[in-house]
Amino acid sequence: MTFPDSGQTVDEVLCRLRSYVETDTPWHAKKMFIGGSYFGGDDIVDASNQAAGVYQNHNVLYAGRIFPGLVQIEQEIISALLGLFKAPPSGTGNLTGGGTESLLLAVKSALNRAKSIGKKAPFDLIIPEAAHPGFDKAAHLMGAKAIRLASSQVFRADPEQIKASVGPNTVFLAASAPSFPFGVTDRVDELADIAKESDLWLHVDACHGGFVLPFAQQLGYETPTFDLSIDGVTSLSVDLHKLGYANKGASALLLADAKNEQYQRYTFDNWPGGRYSTAGLMGSRSAGGLASAWAMIQILGQSGYREIVSEILTARDQLVRGITQLQGLSVLGNPDAYLVAFTAAKVDIMAVSEGMLARGWVTGHLTRPQAIHLFLDRHNATAIPEYLSDLGETLSEVERGLWAGGRADTVYTR
Ligand SMILES: Cc1ncc(COP(=O)(O)O)c(C=O)c1O
Repeated sequence: MTFPDSGQTVDEVLCRLRSYVETDTPWHAKKMFIGGSYFGGDDIVDASNQAAGVYQNHNVLYAGRIFPGLVQIEQEIISALLGLFKAPPSGTGNLTGGGTESLLLAVKSALNRAKSIGKKAPFDLIIPEAAHPGFDKAAHLMGAKAIRLASSQVFRADPEQIKASVGPNTVFLAASAPSFPFGVTDRVDELADIAKESDLWLHVDACHGGFVLPFAQQLGYETPTFDLSIDGVTSLSVDLHKLGYANKGASALLLADAKNEQYQRYTFDNWPGGRYSTAGLMGSRSAGGLASAWAMIQILGQSGYREIVSEILTARDQLVRGITQLQGLSVLGNPDAYLVAFTAAKVDIMAVSEGMLARGWVTGHLTRPQAIHLFLDRHNATAIPEYLSDLGETLSEVERGLWAGGRADTVYTR
């Protein structure tokens, strides 16, 4: 469009805006398994939006100066999270704008710590195959080398591969709880032993699992321990704007030891505008997501999250059982949160995906191995019997040659 010379009425503009959103795929619907936005129920979305609205126009950057209420919100969330993730008394943390920012800050801190204790650059980061690309982005931005490990048979980080990759310049190791592609949590205790032996900064990326795994444990699900109670874990990221059901713009980076906070903060003193000092990477950002995160923790409480996690994990077990019962299909690894990937031994899984898409099922894909990738949440948890029934029919259609394979597409494109 060209920049309009004269303004239009709010009603006209909102009407056109709504016409744009109508061209988009709905962000939550029974047949949407693609993730990205998270649906805890209409009442939860409404409460979260209302809470976000209270702080939508506050700038987090100014909190320390003029918004004591916002500082208190951050402190209260961090202290609740330190408890949930069993941090030692030395623990601390801060809120960031999202999971990627939390990962970038963990790497930045690790590199600064390495320099300060006399290690020599260039530094290496060990990133297991399934860990999030945010770690590679950090390496790219900060001049470090990301060593991506090869695939593991069990779809989680392989301690033997890690040990073999540690060299004199290695300063950082990433663990996932769980990983995005396979939904499998790494054996963080085993990785912590390696980290301690070689003095590595071990970051646990619980961006996806942070609001699922602790409640799964409380519900009696067997889940590997991944939190700050493990000696050797240096930091942990958790996204409140995923299954915490907060509005976008809310993640936390927690540190097992507050003395490592010095490596995270950026301070610049030589500016006519005065001292510039931030713990995060962003400048101005809305406080809406943080306010909604604070509200969600209080509105749902641990029992509310347990209830939702119980629903989602019941659906996941039903899904995994159903997929395994279909001839030739297999689930990758042993997913312990709400992400499930499956592939086919004899037919092209992308052809299966095409047939399912024609029936309205919108899912993600993996490229290595080629697989269908599903995010479970409250909006699709009740659709599993229908999904499995359509999957069975589609599979037999693929066997009869009715569908040809497409290609695994990109997950993130903006
Ligand atoms: C495991 C994992 N960590 C971190 C992130 C980054 O989160 P964000 O998209 O909030 O930056 C993602 C995003 O999907 C993820 O899957």
